[in-house]
Amino acid sequence: MVCLRVIEEYAHENNIPIMLSDGIDFLTDFIKKNDIKRILEVGSAIGYSAICMAQVSLDIQVVTIERDTLRYNEAVKNINDFGLNDRIEIILADALECDISGDFDLIFIDAAKAQYIKFFEKYKSNLAKDGVIISDNLSFHGMVDNMDSITNRNTRQLVGKIVKYIDFLKNNLEFDTEFISIGDGIGISRRKS
Ligand SMILES: C[S@@+](CC[C@H](N)C(=O)[O-])C[C@H]1O[C@@H](n2cnc3c(N)ncnc32)[C@H](O)[C@@H]1O
Repeated sequence: MVCLRVIEEYAHENNIPIMLSDGIDFLTDFIKKNDIKRILEVGSAIGYSAICMAQVSLDIQVVTIERDTLRYNEAVKNINDFGLNDRIEIILADALECDISGDFDLIFIDAAKAQYIKFFEKYKSNLAKDGVIISDNLSFHGMVDNMDSITNRNTRQLVGKIVKYIDFLKNNLEFDTEFISIGDGIGISRRKS
């Protein structure tokens, strides 16, 4: 019998970033409360969040994209172990280079932080009329609010990109975004009415 704890432990032991528990609780609650059925995830890693989201209800379908072959293979195994291969479609590709058809009630962005604006711009056309785009890691372990304390140049650059993405969301003409300090910081973007 597989359980989510095993995937969490594997992620921890192999330094694979997966959603924090309060973030995943928030996300699955959100899916339940908003009766979300079709989900597109950018950044599957080993399938943890896709499995959690699909488990909310039997009529949920998830399409999830991962570019790392080892993580993709592990995700395929986990999805099969959970008996979810009929409801989770996992695609091995760079999300910026593949085309996804169809509309989704929720687009969940949880991939390379430096590319968030590109993911948002690319996939907003796949968003259903009243759909939402949720972005994870907008606090980036608290570093976004403490830029001055970052000494590593690469980390500073990466956090700078997240700050840019937050500005992009705040000043967006098409979408309103609610920022929530849960997990590693979540943004919920809806089309302006
Ligand atoms: C934070 S992890 C995803 C965690 C997963 N959503 C979860 O909570 O279980 C981010 C993943 O996005 C993948 N990734 C980064 N950039 C990507 C891209 N352009 N296309 C597809 N996958 C990407 C990385 O390989 C990594 O496995």
